[in-house]
Amino acid sequence: MTGAPLRVGVLGAGTVGREVVGAFLDGDRAARLAPADGRPLRLAGVAVRDVDRARSAGLPDALLTDAPAHLVASPDVDVIVEVMGGLEPARTLLLGALSGGKAVVTANKALLATHGPELEAAARGSGAPLRFEASVGGGIPVLSPLAADLAANRVTSLRGILNGTTNAILTAMAREGTAYADALAEAQAMGYAEADPTADVEGHDAAAKLVILLRLAFGAWVDPTAIPRRPAVRDSASLGAPGITGVTAEDVAAATDHGRVLKLVASGRRREDGSLEAGVLPTAVFGATALGSTDGVQNRIEIEAEPVGSVAFAGPGAGGGATSSAVLGDLVAIARGGASTWAGLPAAVGRWDGGVSAPAGPALAAPSGACYPLAE
Ligand code: NAP
Ligand code: HSE
Repeated sequence: MTGAPLRVGVLGAGTVGREVVGAFLDGDRAARLAPADGRPLRLAGVAVRDVDRARSAGLPDALLTDAPAHLVASPDVDVIVEVMGGLEPARTLLLGALSGGKAVVTANKALLATHGPELEAAARGSGAPLRFEASVGGGIPVLSPLAADLAANRVTSLRGILNGTTNAILTAMAREGTAYADALAEAQAMGYAEADPTADVEGHDAAAKLVILLRLAFGAWVDPTAIPRRPAVRDSASLGAPGITGVTAEDVAAATDHGRVLKLVASGRRREDGSLEAGVLPTAVFGATALGSTDGVQNRIEIEAEPVGSVAFAGPGAGGGATSSAVLGDLVAIARGGASTWAGLPAAVGRWDGGVSAPAGPALAAPSGACYPLAE
C-alpha cells in the first residue's frame, strides 16, 4: 500500500450504493480496498435524497449529505462514485467532477448511452479516469476485458442477454408459468429492476448497454433511440410492442413447442460495407445452447473477434451485491493508477452517423402475431 488515502464520495445509497458503502464499513471487506500496489481507498461521504431514511438504515450520520454537488466540489473528495441513476443531476455532477480532474466510477448506463460523447470528451479533456464496468452485465467483468485484453482484435459481432429483469421474467414465465406481472413484481423486489421498470421491459436498458458495448467494440457512440426494440408483426406493416411487453404466455408456450426459449437478445454487427446492424429484440433461441440456458438474473455476452474467435462472459447481471463488485473493482483499479474503461482505444467523442438497421432473418411466427427472430 503506497501513498495518501484516495477519498471517495458516493452519490446514492440505494440497491447498489448501500452495498458499495457497506464494503467500506465492514472490516474484512474494507481490507480489500487497500491494494498492495496502490493508494488505500477511504469513504469520505455519501449523498442521498432522504438523509433521515439513510440514517435509519444504519448509515453513519457523519458521512451523509443531501447535497451531492457539495460532495463533488469538496476538496476532501478525490473520486466520485455515481450510483444515483437518472440523467440529471447525474450528468451535471459527473461533468463537474471530470472537468475538475476527479476520477469517476458510474453504474449509470442510461447516462452513458445518452451523454457518452460529452462525458468522454470531459474525461479526455482533463485526463481524469471515467470507469463504468458496472454499467453492463452487473457483476460480470466484460467492458475492461473487451477494451483492454481484446484490444488487439477486430470485433466483428457481439450479442447477449443484457437485462436481468427481463430475463428473470421470461424464465419464470417459461419454467413456472408465472404471470408476467407477478414475475416483474418479483424482479423489482429482488432489486433487479430500474426505478422505472419501463426501462427494463421496453428494452431501453438493454439498448443503453448495447450502445456502451458498441462504443468499445466499434469505436462509435450510437444514439440509443436508433436501436430497434420492436419485433416485426405478421401481416402488418407496423411493428409490435417494445421489448418484452408484447410477449404472451401463448408465445412462450409456442417457443417451447419448437425446443426454443424466448430471450431479449441484444446484438450488433459491423457489416463489410461499414454499416451497422443492431437490435434489442425478443428472440427464439434454442434452449440447449449456452445463450438459451442463461436463466433468471444471469446475463451472457458473446463476442466474435479476429484473431481470438468466440469469447463469452457470463454471470449475475443485476442486484446490489453483484453490481457493487464491479463498482469496487473500478475503484481499486483507480487506486492502482488505472485509466478510463476504454483504456488505450482511440477516442470516440462524436455520435455514429451511419444509421442502424435491424437484424434480418428467419423468425418464429408467434400466436400474438409477433415474429421473433430465430437464433442458435
Ligand atoms: P436506487 O435503489 O433507486 O437508489 C438510488 C439512490 O440514489 C438512492 O439512495 C437515492 O436516494 C439516491 N438519489 C437519487 N437521486 C438523487 C438526487 N437527486 N440526490 C441525491 N440522491 C439521489 O437505484 P439502484 O438500483 O441502486 O441503481 C443505481 C444506478 O445503478 C442506476 O443508474 C442503475 O441503472 C444502475 N445499476 C443498477 C443495478 C441494479 O441491479 N440495481 C445494476 C447495474 C447498474 P433516496 O433513497 O434518498 O431517494
Ligand atoms: N435493471 C437492470 C437489469 C439492472 O435488470 O439488468 C442491471 O443493469
